[in-house]
Amino acid sequence: MASVPQSSIGLGRIFQRKSVAQIQSELEHGELKRSLGALNLILLGIGCIIGTGIFVLTGLAAARYSGPAITISFVITGTLCAFVALCYAELASALPVSGSAYSYSYASMGEIAAWVMGILLVLEYGLSASTVAVGWSGYAVSVLQDLGVNVPPALTAAPGVPVMDAAGHVVATGVMNLPAVLIIAAVIALLVRGVSESATVNNIIVGVKLTVVIAFIAIGVRYVNPHNLTPLVPPQIPAPPPGTPMDMPHQILRALGQVFMGDSNSKYGVGGVITGAARIFFAYLGFEAVSTAGAESKNPAKDMPIGIIGALVICTVLYIATSAVLVGIVPYPQLDNPAPIALAVDRIGMPWFAFLVKIGAIAGLTSVMLVLLYGQTRIFYTMSRDGLLPKAMSVVHRKFRTPWINTIFVGIMACSAAGFISLDDLADLSNVGSLAAFSLVCITVIYLRVSSPDLHRPFRTPLYPLVPILGAGMCLFLLKSILNKPKTGPFFLAYVGVGILLYFVYGLWNSKLGKGVVVEGHEAAPMELPHTD
Ligand code: ALA
Repeated sequence: MASVPQSSIGLGRIFQRKSVAQIQSELEHGELKRSLGALNLILLGIGCIIGTGIFVLTGLAAARYSGPAITISFVITGTLCAFVALCYAELASALPVSGSAYSYSYASMGEIAAWVMGILLVLEYGLSASTVAVGWSGYAVSVLQDLGVNVPPALTAAPGVPVMDAAGHVVATGVMNLPAVLIIAAVIALLVRGVSESATVNNIIVGVKLTVVIAFIAIGVRYVNPHNLTPLVPPQIPAPPPGTPMDMPHQILRALGQVFMGDSNSKYGVGGVITGAARIFFAYLGFEAVSTAGAESKNPAKDMPIGIIGALVICTVLYIATSAVLVGIVPYPQLDNPAPIALAVDRIGMPWFAFLVKIGAIAGLTSVMLVLLYGQTRIFYTMSRDGLLPKAMSVVHRKFRTPWINTIFVGIMACSAAGFISLDDLADLSNVGSLAAFSLVCITVIYLRVSSPDLHRPFRTPLYPLVPILGAGMCLFLLKSILNKPKTGPFFLAYVGVGILLYFVYGLWNSKLGKGVVVEGHEAAPMELPHTD
């Protein structure tokens, strides 16, 4: 692929691209061990996917938006993610680098797109880790209670958030979420010390998580009360004006209209199912994390698509089954609880299993945080090596061989968010960042097909251009539904605006590509890396 001359001047600089050859040479100079096969990649994906989404947000989305049709919400979002996963698979097999979407943007649409992708990935990785920490806190507080240790309720939620007991009574108003801050600090300490999450450890944690989820489905299905599942789509609240046609096509059109016109917080009805789909999008985040391991994959051309798509398919099936059992056991209005799966197990009268579920969730959520925070530090490290962030972000600790300043910075950011922002707001912000990043990835596939038709693509997205167009379209549609929320929209626009401003103040003037400096392999620094033996 032709690249813009590296030291070009003027506004054209913001569109300068790394050539595919340069990206591939960075890869060849890398020192990462290519040790991950297809199965390890699938397990890596599952390790990052199954977390707060299924263990926490499913209950909230069923109680507030979808009702028993939460299963349909999972099908909708799973389909969207399949389109995006196919696009990721094409890029990850053609450009098996470690910077993932940031590097794809740099090699296709240029530096400004890479920068925007970089700031979106902060929401996708950094804030997602905070979201998971809040989910972790809910389960940890519950386990401590089982052990007779009571954390003051005001220290278990963000400021102003009502704290409820197991029976659903408000017992306090949050001041800060202390357990969430502490777990992020602990994970950051591990990352600074360079305690790597080896493939073996990851596989064990994934095994524990899968066992808990599958056991919940297998045991819980016998306790499903069919009355809890009807009506599948509860009537919309408030009800539509009298005389409004309510057959299915009209309901769907009405729901789509609501989402586009700004009333995106439909409670139940078809609109609620769509809003629920946007809310549980977080549950699927992580399938793309497989693409960050491109440089460590034994045979990226073949294994990357298998890893990304395999992890997504397995998790989609598990999510649909888990959510069906959940709303079958507990009437959906009662599911607005920080530990809904444990609540369902309590209801079927198996306290020992409820305890195991909580322990499994705590272990599983910890690994998700580790992978997400690691991913965030790696993206900052890559951007710093490219000159787009200050040098300090790529300084490697002499003894621990980790990018310690960068990691501590990420830790402060993630701790502040986890301690002081509500779960709902955190999930929304992670979702908007990810949806925007995913739509850019789908557009990148189309852009590269047009601009570099001869690029070797071991895996090609089927039904091109339909799949990337549907992927980008559905992402933007769900994005719009979340941006309609009063706080999320303005925050996101301000965040992206300030981010772009920072590029013109700093990135543009310090870019290595802009100065004509060739960056040797990003992986050349002898850092300890997770998920390799
Ligand atoms: N999908 C991951 C979770 O639900 C991020 O925690």
